[in-house]
Amino acid sequence: MLSSRVMNIAPSATLAIDAKAKQLKKEGKDVVIFGAGEPDFNTPENIKQAAKKAIDNNLTRYTPVGGIPELKKAVSDKFRSFNKINYDGSEIMIGCGGKHVLFNAMMAVLEKDDEAILPVPYWVSFEEMIRIDEAKPVFCETDKNFKLTAEKVEEKITPKTKLLVLNSPSNPSGAIAEPSEIRKIAELAVKHNFCVISDEVYEYFTYGKEFLSIASLNEEIKKLTITCNSVSKTYAMTGWRVGYCGAGKEIIKGMENLQGHSTSNPSNIAQMAALEALNGPQESVKEMVKAFDERRRFIHKRLNEVDGISCVEPEGAFYAFPDISETGMDSMAFASKLLDEALVAVVPGAAFGMEGHVRLSYATSMHEIERGMDRIEKWLKEKI
Ligand SMILES: Cc1ncc(COP(=O)(O)O)c(C=O)c1O
Repeated sequence: MLSSRVMNIAPSATLAIDAKAKQLKKEGKDVVIFGAGEPDFNTPENIKQAAKKAIDNNLTRYTPVGGIPELKKAVSDKFRSFNKINYDGSEIMIGCGGKHVLFNAMMAVLEKDDEAILPVPYWVSFEEMIRIDEAKPVFCETDKNFKLTAEKVEEKITPKTKLLVLNSPSNPSGAIAEPSEIRKIAELAVKHNFCVISDEVYEYFTYGKEFLSIASLNEEIKKLTITCNSVSKTYAMTGWRVGYCGAGKEIIKGMENLQGHSTSNPSNIAQMAALEALNGPQESVKEMVKAFDERRRFIHKRLNEVDGISCVEPEGAFYAFPDISETGMDSMAFASKLLDEALVAVVPGAAFGMEGHVRLSYATSMHEIERGMDRIEKWLKEKI
């Protein structure tokens, strides 16, 4: 009975490892999990209070499909001050999480057989979203530091190119695209008239490195770009499901129509929480970023001390993406043996379109990182 559209969705290679790690934990095994794609911090108190207040004030009904005007205004202000992009209220939409916004954005612009350029390694859902829309992912190499260059993008452009997916800082590599390359990529998009979906959910996790929103460059590229974001990572709000985007009026209208026939508005209560997240004190974000930065330096150093592993410095997000090819194992074998034999869960690079690597999330305590790294070191010493 299943449609071919659904049958063609690849099961996530991350799920098998994740399910196994959780099962082992349930059985009482002491597993160190480096798989998390979310901050280990709690949602800040002021945000939780705003949600409680929203319930008490009976903000429990439908809202406009694309979000409440106050939240659109807060998003517009944030785009202006942080990203240097001028989106007015009609150029903003709120969705049920960043993933949902990205899904809507792709569906709004992709036609059957369109080509979508996808830099490798990529976040797992991008490829499937493109395929669900019956478009074709065109994989684009990055350099040895996982950085996207305009030269590589240009090689992939054909008359069928409809969009480029930009994800800086990147999940899984942490790479931050160089502003000089972003400028050249913007010129290519304008010249060849294709869209850019810019996924900026890790924009705060840049640890002092320069971050540039492509839509901020000029009006021409702004018109072609859908700037997607979310409160999930920045405010430790992954479970609240509020994402947002900025784009041209027509695209926003199309996306709102689509959302109007699927989820309708994101939760009214969660929107009030997101409003407080954007407008309230930002100290908790700074504290979280500081903690991640310490862990980032530590895990990078520890990984490079292990024989058989080498790791490019992760510049952003909260992931390290070491090369494990010298161990002689492919990424799936590495991840599954590491879990079975040393009780450490990592995600195989194959899930992100790049063999020979695994992803470790450092969104876990320093103590856990230390324990996990000790185990990896000992396990590999015995293994190779
Ligand atoms: C690159 C990237 N984009 C988007 C998302 C979506 O996050 P959310 O749907 O929680 O906003 C994630 C989450 O892991 C991600 O890693």
